[in-house]
Amino acid sequence: MPGTILVTGGTGYIGAHTVVKLLDAGFPVVVLDNLCNSSRTVIDRIQKITGKPLCFVEGDVRDRHLLQNTLQRHSVSAVIHFAGLKAVAESEAEPLTYYDNNVSGSLILFEEMARAGIHTAVFSSSATVYGESGSAKYGEKYCEDRPLAPVSVYGKTKLMVENILRDLKKAQPQWRIALLRYFNPAGAHHSGLIGEDPSGVPNNLMPFVAQVAVGKRESLSVFGNDYPTPDGTGLRDYIHVEDLASGHLAALNVLNQKSSLITLNLGTGRPVSVLEMIAAFEKASGRKIPWQTAPRRAGDIAACFADPTRAQEILGWKATLDIDRMCQDAWRWQRNHPEGYC
Ligand code: NAD
Ligand code: UD1
Repeated sequence: MPGTILVTGGTGYIGAHTVVKLLDAGFPVVVLDNLCNSSRTVIDRIQKITGKPLCFVEGDVRDRHLLQNTLQRHSVSAVIHFAGLKAVAESEAEPLTYYDNNVSGSLILFEEMARAGIHTAVFSSSATVYGESGSAKYGEKYCEDRPLAPVSVYGKTKLMVENILRDLKKAQPQWRIALLRYFNPAGAHHSGLIGEDPSGVPNNLMPFVAQVAVGKRESLSVFGNDYPTPDGTGLRDYIHVEDLASGHLAALNVLNQKSSLITLNLGTGRPVSVLEMIAAFEKASGRKIPWQTAPRRAGDIAACFADPTRAQEILGWKATLDIDRMCQDAWRWQRNHPEGYC
């Protein structure tokens, strides 16, 4: 019987999809989430999808006593740490909130893991840690050895936690750590029961396009059409959230076999432009997506997509679902839940 996996932030978008994969693979799971950006309904949905029981603890990763109880009572053997705040603009406006939640929250978690003798951690990092280390030209992929230069406060919190874990591994080699740098998570579970439920106006492209398709928003602003890319719009590496979730399982399996620290890009390596995304969503939904060109968004770069080779070599994992499938699944979720989980 495998040990219990604690999933912090497990009712969130990526966490929920990962919990489904963990339960399907036979891992007992306990989710800890303070529901600041998610809904309790997700727990019922996960149980419906998997037909498996799931323990849920409502609370904050900064609550030491709650962590101590949870780690001990559930005999946790490893932690996947998704809990964090992720809105770039908000992080600029409220830096202390972000450093406290994302950095202090992680520190407290790792301290309590160490105290409980748990030394296996998978951390949600982001391609945003590469920041403006030179915008890649069309065709140039981001490899893990690229310099790290995050621009936003949000990105800086991710790099800080990566550094904390790198230092921890150096000082205490018994730790087994995976730093997973996600590119652009997109799509939803194929059941249509769980998906992305942004609060307020979506920052990211796919949830915005989905809300236009369902009639919640009038039209999409395409931020910039003069980038040095084939159609002038930004290129990104969208990865299906179910592929991303499988990447976490693969990382956990590798850490269980070998004590190491692995830093990996989780992406597809296939760039998709904003206009290509619109076309794919129109095909998936059968609806026209009205759009107009708008000025470039501050902080955006022309192109950012992964070199996924290292993840493939180390994890034996690669993303398999394409942009059409991401749009089909996102549309199923959006059409069934125009107001998200509410
Ligand atoms: P999400 O907001 O849907 O999920 C995060 C979850 O963490 C939420 O359920 C929230 O309620 C919970 N949470 C936040 N602070 C908490 C705290 N202090 N204690 C307990 N729970 C807390 O976000 P997501 O898209 O699923 O992202 C998961 C992780 O992956 C985050 O760390 C995020 O920064 C990172 N990430 C996300 C993306 C993306 O585009 N979605 C890209 C790269 C990295
Ligand atoms: C954004 C964040 C990044 C974060 C990532 C994943 C910024 C500056 N960057 O990156 O830190 O890690 O999300 O959560 O916020 N676009 C439009 N119209 C829209 C929305 C987006 O044209 O309404 C374009 C963007 O200009 C970009 C592409 O779509 O070219 C993707 O945007 P988005 O989904 O926000 O992701 P990133 O820009 O990669």
